[in-house]
Amino acid sequence: MDDNDPYVVAIDGPGGSGKGSLALRIAKNLGFHLLDSGAIYRLAALKALHQGIDLEQEAGVVSALQNLDIRFEIGEELSIPYLDGQDVSTEIRQESTADAASIIARYAGVRKHLLGWQQACFQAPGLVADGRDMGTVVFPQARFKFFLSASVEIRAVRRYKQLIGMGISANIDKLQAEISERDERDRNRTESPLIPATDALIVDSSLLNLEQVAELVMSHIEETIENRSW
Ligand code: DC
Repeated sequence: MDDNDPYVVAIDGPGGSGKGSLALRIAKNLGFHLLDSGAIYRLAALKALHQGIDLEQEAGVVSALQNLDIRFEIGEELSIPYLDGQDVSTEIRQESTADAASIIARYAGVRKHLLGWQQACFQAPGLVADGRDMGTVVFPQARFKFFLSASVEIRAVRRYKQLIGMGISANIDKLQAEISERDERDRNRTESPLIPATDALIVDSSLLNLEQVAELVMSHIEETIENRSW
């Protein structure tokens, strides 16, 4: 592998572990593209919801995705998600959308349909990809793999602040219960369960802020590159 070859930095972890903000920070530092794979699952779930599909029926959900029209427009800080030409930035962040995404993400047909879309995001000079299975299934060849964890209590507080910051009302206890339920579903599904890749560096972000986690991750990347130890 050549020093200048484009490479992938995979960041996986449960909801609220801070992987989205970390991925954005690392992508900016490295000048890399960014893939928020959770947003793709959320858009797919919204598509099924907009069509009134029963989310418990895999075949119906998969057929709703056959003409999935999604794109992201790069904004100042965040990218704006479009579904069928409509800006869905607020709807995509609702807890009900996260739940729907976690439900349809169990289906092999859904994951297969979204795989190529995610892999096509890998372009020079490189990609930072965050999600649940970036290091295990979508980019098993990723040069760097991180798995971010944090206690469920802390993740619920983070998600609460994030939602309030976006003007979406929330309740911490309810959030914690919903996050635990999604964790269970994401960890115990048969298809691409939420588990660290065997070669991932596990980072517990419970007691660290974004700057500290970003520093840790960046120094691991820089040291590895300096020592040519891949
Ligand atoms: O990261 P997020 O909270 O936006 O993800 C929402 C749901 O999407 C998550 O509960 C499970 C699913 N998901 C997935 O199965 N695989 C991914 N790579 C990303 C998200």
